[in-house]
Amino acid sequence: EWAGATSLEQVVLAAPRSFCAGVERAITVVEQALDRHGPPVYVRKQIVHNTHVIDDLSRRGAVFVDELTEVPDGAVTVFSAHGVSAEVRRTAADRGLPVIDATCPLVTKVHNEARRYAGQGRTVLLIGHAGHEETEGTLGEVPGRVTLVQSPGEAERVEVADPDRVSYLVQTTLAVDEVSGVLDVLRRRFPALTGPSSDDICYATTNRQVALRAIAAEADLVLVLGSSNSSNSLRLVEVARRAGTPAHLVDDVGAVDLRWLAGIRTVGVTAGASAPPHLVDQTVAALVGLGARAVRERTTSTEEVHFTLPKEKRPR
Ligand code: F3S
Repeated sequence: EWAGATSLEQVVLAAPRSFCAGVERAITVVEQALDRHGPPVYVRKQIVHNTHVIDDLSRRGAVFVDELTEVPDGAVTVFSAHGVSAEVRRTAADRGLPVIDATCPLVTKVHNEARRYAGQGRTVLLIGHAGHEETEGTLGEVPGRVTLVQSPGEAERVEVADPDRVSYLVQTTLAVDEVSGVLDVLRRRFPALTGPSSDDICYATTNRQVALRAIAAEADLVLVLGSSNSSNSLRLVEVARRAGTPAHLVDDVGAVDLRWLAGIRTVGVTAGASAPPHLVDQTVAALVGLGARAVRERTTSTEEVHFTLPKEKRPR
């Protein structure tokens, strides 16, 4: 009975949106492990941060656990896309667990940089958010050698052993503008600061933020499909709001509050890198049902990134 009752005119879709290459790879790893070994397949942490993906794989026999202590001896174990610390890898190896590491190669790249900088005796500052699995993994890559910096304020206060030997790293899913605020402070305090040759913020995060900014400029409201623990999805909401456009994070179309649409003519829709494309389709269909007559896609870049699948490590 809502059809025609709203002021909705059009939907603008951001492109790129939804799954990135690292998420596609991680989901495929679990699917293939289920096919090859049969359920249960144990996955340490959520394979990617999306409730729909987790529910779907759980139904098919994946068992998501927080720690390796919950994995029975000998059970096939997958590490999530966000990466694990060196200690988790060691524990799995000590127990002889058959492991398939679905860590995104772009997260592994950050871990390698952490090891390289620490190996050069440098203090490593990781720009990122506390409590996220990716930052925990990167901090744990060289325990005690990496310090988390979450904000410009923390960048002002952080203490280092030798200001001439400081390097930085960045969590892959941060907002480009929030990182530059922190980096400005670090560069002023530590002029000799070095960092990765190309930014650690991954291509998928960057592309989705650029695409989002384009639709936010046209839309009265932005809907971001994604789960509340998805870092890159949360950043999309923040980037839209900083651009002056109201934005909401929704797990699926069922979470859309119709009151948000009051007086709205153009709705922008995007999805975080861990949110499946069908969630976008369902949302667009509902918006069309509510009276939106035009659906346009605004493409700011195209992506051709694919990662090869990891091999299973069998205990010797
Ligand atoms: Fe990897 Fe970036 Fe996706 S780090 S998992 S490609 S959001």
